[in-house]
Amino acid sequence: MTSTPADQTGTPTDGLDVVIAGGHGQIAMLLERRLADAGHRVRGIIRNPDHADDLAAAGAESIVLDLEDTSAGDLATAIRGADAVVFAAGGGPNSGAARKETVDKGAAILLADAAEQAGVRRYVMVSAMGTDQADPDSVDVFQVYLRAKAAADADLQARDLDWTIVRPGALVDEPGTGKVQLAEKTGYGEVPRADVAHVLHAVLETPSSAGSVVELIGGETPVTEAVAAL
Ligand SMILES: NC(=O)c1ccc[n+]([C@@H]2O[C@H](COP(=O)([O-])OP(=O)(O)OC[C@H]3O[C@@H](n4cnc5c(N)ncnc54)[C@H](OP(=O)(O)O)[C@@H]3O)[C@@H](O)[C@H]2O)c1
Repeated sequence: MTSTPADQTGTPTDGLDVVIAGGHGQIAMLLERRLADAGHRVRGIIRNPDHADDLAAAGAESIVLDLEDTSAGDLATAIRGADAVVFAAGGGPNSGAARKETVDKGAAILLADAAEQAGVRRYVMVSAMGTDQADPDSVDVFQVYLRAKAAADADLQARDLDWTIVRPGALVDEPGTGKVQLAEKTGYGEVPRADVAHVLHAVLETPSSAGSVVELIGGETPVTEAVAAL
């Protein structure tokens, strides 16, 4: 039996319909499992149809679309009816500068365009710590990545959408602790992907977190308490 979705105040929330871009990513898979277990409908956007079985095992449906080869109109059609979208896609650590532009920036903006077209107001962004300190001139691929994430965040903040931007520190694969530090500025640190997924889950169930841009690292505050304080 699934639990009743509830926000921090204990108020039951209706089951949400959430679409996650980058649906086979490591954070995305953890979030899909959490949302499905909590009774929400969850759909992941994947570009490789072979990944659909993994999503099904996590309790998620699949939308097969390549975010680097899709129009905003087609993406809007795919996400219409959703309550929220989450951008958890990324070119990945081995991708070059070009894919920082087409995925980390381009696909995030495409998803915002599609959300507006489809009338999906809630947009939760997986951003990154350091985006506000990117070197504007460096050709180093990490700086290109930070600039791409910064541009996607700025684009989202300028829109009339109910956005929340979460900027994790260095992602690690240790088990989640359920405790984090979530603040405008946390200082540099690590955070388990499982705790990032936990925070995203709580953010989705907490509409009052809209309008926040927060950094995220491991800490001592229970996730629900940290998100409720936003
Ligand atoms: N690494 C860090 O320390 C760190 C720190 C802070 C923030 N972040 C951010 O957190 C994000 C999520 O982290 P993660 O570890 O969960 O990432 P991940 O495992 O690399 O997942 C990214 C997903 O994006 C998908 N994707 C890439 N291009 C796509 C396209 N054109 N269409 C559809 N999907 C596409 C990938 O799919 P394929 O499998 O098909 O390639 C992959 O499943 C990262 O992308 C990064 O921006 C990372």
